[in-house]
Amino acid sequence: MTSTAQAPTPGAPTAHPDHLGHVIFIAAAAAMGGFLFGYDSSVINGAVEAIRDRYDIGSAALAQVIAIALIGCAIGAATAGRIADRIGRIRCMQIAAGLFTVSAVGSALPFALWDLALWRIIGGFAIGMASVIGPAYIAEVAPPAYRGRLGSFQQAAIVVGIAISQLVNWGLLNAAGGDQRGKLMGLEAWQVMLGVMVIPAVLYGLLSFAIPESPRFLVSVGKRERAKEILEEVEGKDVDFDARIAEIEHAMHREEKSSFKDLLGGSFFFKPIVWIGIGLSVFQQFVGINVAFYYSSTLWQSVGVDPTQSFFYSFTTSIINIIGTVIAMIFVDRIGRKPLALIGSAGMVVGLALEAWAFSSPLVDGKLPATQGWVALVAAHIFVLFFALSWGVVVWVFLGEMFPNRIRAAALGVAASAQWIANWAITASFPSLADWNLSGTYVIYAVFAALSIPFVLKFVKETKGKSLEEMG
Ligand code: GLC
Repeated sequence: MTSTAQAPTPGAPTAHPDHLGHVIFIAAAAAMGGFLFGYDSSVINGAVEAIRDRYDIGSAALAQVIAIALIGCAIGAATAGRIADRIGRIRCMQIAAGLFTVSAVGSALPFALWDLALWRIIGGFAIGMASVIGPAYIAEVAPPAYRGRLGSFQQAAIVVGIAISQLVNWGLLNAAGGDQRGKLMGLEAWQVMLGVMVIPAVLYGLLSFAIPESPRFLVSVGKRERAKEILEEVEGKDVDFDARIAEIEHAMHREEKSSFKDLLGGSFFFKPIVWIGIGLSVFQQFVGINVAFYYSSTLWQSVGVDPTQSFFYSFTTSIINIIGTVIAMIFVDRIGRKPLALIGSAGMVVGLALEAWAFSSPLVDGKLPATQGWVALVAAHIFVLFFALSWGVVVWVFLGEMFPNRIRAAALGVAASAQWIANWAITASFPSLADWNLSGTYVIYAVFAALSIPFVLKFVKETKGKSLEEMG
């Protein structure tokens, strides 16, 4: 790890190699929340048809049962910041782990549709909390020279969570004889799919007891000595910790006492930095990434691919997603967040434009012509690859580190909650947009990918190698 590590920025504290293993463990444990985020938000795909059948509901009601979880995510993200500032980052993780557990058990054993929806909202709330607390905590404990790479553990965990949920769903479906309502261990297969989440949820809760509280949070509540011990634990003994704590305190005092009001300012309600966070979140979703994950099977089937093969393509997209994330992890601390984002945007424009072109062709016997079919498939993978090596990782890393200490958790909460609302807007509108014009829909996503380039160039500041106290 050290041999490939980027040379630390002069003056920026770095981790002693002996401590790096420990820091990696801490970041990985916190990123379990990301795993649950990925798993829980995509596991429902394997259960939708069974839910529709069991409760005998139409598409509109079904869409609401699914979308309602995203509203829970937005609320969870909006409140996590304040909870984390009040009771600490670790307690916040423990609450999220508890809610994930309750939601997994409840949604696996619902009495009726209304409580299934309720459990999904609770699970969504936990996902929203995890989406805020993971990046904030990792950025706060990571030594600056490795912060990008450690911060990208969150996205790595999200993408692995998505891939594992697809595999688990596929395995359970096969075990139940290809029927989502087939019996397994006395339950229907879809109930087991939702219930399996109990395992990572409990693990997340247990791991949260094994990792230290964030030194920045401890300083904010006056626990200076404990903060110093933790900084020593993660950065080694060769750093001047009194100077580091003084720097954190100074940066905190530079700003007013933290509250939601601190996010406000300027002539556009929020401070500009909060808007930049919201912008990053919205662009990340408006390129249509979750259409590729939530609707992939439906999409491929709509252009004539058979169901088994469409499952296979969803899975290969997930593998590409993991590969792209690893590429981003290698480069995020070397070439920086901004160049990665720009390369990703350019690649996504190409992938999305090719998809738009392929889908503009009329179907022949319910299928795309061979050339367009191949182009659509390759283009979808190009799009996911470029998303994964850039915006997937970079946005969560930026959101974790771009805000000044005092407002970090609250500002990240607002930006993440905007991201969940944007996610909801894209996923809820896709079926109608696709009915209107599939190719046109991809043109819209491509336009957002193109617009993200001037947005990054004009508004986003590089954060690579800087200490959190230099932000803002
Ligand atoms: C990012 C996005 C999330 C998406 C995932 C796909 O984490 O925030 O919405 O599902 O990437 O890899």
